[in-house]
Amino acid sequence: MKEIRRIAVLGSGLMGHGIAQVAAQVAKYEVSMRDIKQEFLDNGMRMIKNSLQRFQKKDIISETEMNQTLSRIHPTLDMKKAVADADLIIEAVPENVQIKKSVLAEADKLAKKDTLIASNTSSISITDLASATNRPEKFCGMHFFNPPQLMRLVEIIRGAKTLDETIATIADVSKKMGKETVIVKKDSAGFVVNRILIPALNEALNLVWEGIADRDDIDKAITLGLNWPMGPLKLLDYLGLDTTLSIAEVLQKEIDPKYSPCPLLRQMTRAGLLGRKTGKGFYDWEKK
Ligand code: CAA
Repeated sequence: MKEIRRIAVLGSGLMGHGIAQVAAQVAKYEVSMRDIKQEFLDNGMRMIKNSLQRFQKKDIISETEMNQTLSRIHPTLDMKKAVADADLIIEAVPENVQIKKSVLAEADKLAKKDTLIASNTSSISITDLASATNRPEKFCGMHFFNPPQLMRLVEIIRGAKTLDETIATIADVSKKMGKETVIVKKDSAGFVVNRILIPALNEALNLVWEGIADRDDIDKAITLGLNWPMGPLKLLDYLGLDTTLSIAEVLQKEIDPKYSPCPLLRQMTRAGLLGRKTGKGFYDWEKK
């Protein structure tokens, strides 16, 4: 198994900042967090500080641990600086195949030959993403759940050429980050969780679109009837409607037309009603 000391997280958004935090806070890795705009990095660091403060207020970590965690996270706009010394690169840029492939190709050229690369994609083919690099055997999926600071699962996905050693190392890193893992043996769109979750969220959208029940009743039905921590429409806002649309489109294209996204999902995405990240979706998040 490869020894991992330094990690580069590409992307400082909803997932990237949380992954960087868990890597530095729980596994105590040195972490570079790279993004393309200073404001994205500033926002990522603000979310990390906010999350660490919540843990500190609850005495889960001390003030010293909070400051040590922050000192292990190195935000940067420079790809070379981010990946040059990394033993593992975790890609967490937007859920778009072109953007992911171009970022992965750039990171692959600048990283050491033996560095592992893992993608946090929620649905895109690992084999396809691996083809953007010259190290498909050192490449796999490492799928965290939102919020990565609290959700205990990591799905590890094998691409067509992934070596057993790569999977074993990523499983070990996940464990050091305090996560439970499941292995997805075949590279299939949506893996395990999103193959089940996205159709369920899409049906909640269909219920609204068809006028069958109102938002609050749909969310109440599922929180009380299935014991979900939040209803499906709130969860859609939490995940981002644009991200959910991208995953649904991949399921539709790669697996079966039956996964076709509800027109309301497309319409709300076009209108910028993306949920928490834009302040409005099914709920008004600006009020919170
Ligand atoms: N860091 C630290 N603490 C956090 C936090 C963060 N980022 N976010 C929330 N918390 C803490 C809060 O401080 C709060 O603590 P207390 O109860 O001690 O006060 C607690 O978590 C609950 O938070 P809130 O009161 O703000 O809100 P909530 O009760 O709705 O809980 C939640 C938030 C933990 C996210 C919970 O609603 C939940 O588990 N929701 C479901 C999330 C889920 O299903 N995620 C998976 C989505 S699928 C996915 O991610 C895959 C994909 O590819 C799309």
